[in-house]
Amino acid sequence: MSESILITGAAQRVGLHCALALRAQGYDVIATYRQDKHGLTQLRDAGVHCVYCDFDQPNAIVALVAAVTAKAKSLRAIIHNASSWQADAVLPCKAAALHANTDNILSPAQISAQLATDAGIFDAMMHIHAKVPYLLTRALMPNLLANGNADVIALTDFVASVGSSKHMAYAASRAAMENLVLSMSRQLAPAIKVNAIAPALLMFNDGDDAQYRQKALKKSLMQCEPGSQEVVNTINYLLASQYITGRVLALDGGRHLNFP
Ligand SMILES: NC(=O)c1ccc[n+]([C@@H]2O[C@H](COP(=O)([O-])OP(=O)(O)OC[C@H]3O[C@@H](n4cnc5c(N)ncnc54)[C@H](OP(=O)(O)O)[C@@H]3O)[C@@H](O)[C@H]2O)c1
Repeated sequence: MSESILITGAAQRVGLHCALALRAQGYDVIATYRQDKHGLTQLRDAGVHCVYCDFDQPNAIVALVAAVTAKAKSLRAIIHNASSWQADAVLPCKAAALHANTDNILSPAQISAQLATDAGIFDAMMHIHAKVPYLLTRALMPNLLANGNADVIALTDFVASVGSSKHMAYAASRAAMENLVLSMSRQLAPAIKVNAIAPALLMFNDGDDAQYRQKALKKSLMQCEPGSQEVVNTINYLLASQYITGRVLALDGGRHLNFP
C-alpha cells in the first residue's frame, strides 16, 4: 500500500509542483487548498486527494485532521507549505526622521490605527507560519507515529536568519517556525524527523518586473531562478535520510556569501 503525505497550500506554484511530483512518485498525496485555482484541476486529475482548508477560519484544523484521518490513518510526512508573504504596513514617517524632530509624533487616533494594522499583520504571519504548523503537527502526531517512519518538513525562508526591513513580521514568524523545528525534532525523535527547508528566491511572481527580477537574481551567487524542482529534490533528500533531523536546509544559491 502507498504511503500518505499531507501538503498544505498546494493549489499553486511550489506546493502544486511538489504535490504533483510526490504523487507521480507513487505517494498518496493529500493537498489542502483555499481557492479554486487552476492547480486544483491538475491535482484532482493526477489523483491527489484535495481538502478545502482556510487556516484563517475557526475549526479549520479540526476539520482538516478529521479529513486526513478519514483518508489516511498513518502519515509518511507533513509538508508545511502554506504561506503568506505579507509586507509590513508603511509607516507615516521615515525611521531616520524620528530622531531628528518631533514633527512625526502621531495623534492617539493615528497611533491606534497604526497599532491595529501592525498587530493584524503580525498575528496573521505568526498564525500561518508558526501556530498552524505547531497545532497541525501535534494534532496529527498519532498519524505520523502510526507510520513507524515519518517526517515533518516546514518550508521557511532565507530571511529567518537575516531579517527583512520590509517584511519584519513575516521574517519573525519564519524564525519562530524554525525554532519550532528544533523543539519538535527533540521531542519526536527517533520516530519522526523534523526539518525545515529555507529557500531564498525560488520563483518570481507574475507581476515582478524586469528591474526587480534582475536585482533579485544578483542577490545569490548562482544568479538563477531555480524553480520548484529544487524543493522536490530537497524533500526527497530528507525523506530518504535516516539521520537528518532538527536542521534548516538552506536552499539559497549561496546567497549568504554574496557580499558586496
Ligand atoms: N517562491 C519563492 O521564491 C519562495 C522564496 C522563499 C520561501 N518560499 C516558501 O516556499 C513555500 C512555497 O512558495 P510559493 O511561492 O509557492 O508560495 P505561494 O505562491 O504564496 O503559495 C502559498 C499557498 O499557501 C496558501 N495559504 C496562504 N495562507 C493560507 C491560509 N490562511 N489558509 C490556507 N492556505 C493559505 C495560499 O493560498 P491562496 O492562494 O488561497 O492565498 C497559497 O496557495 C512557501 O512557504 C514560501 O514562503 C518561497
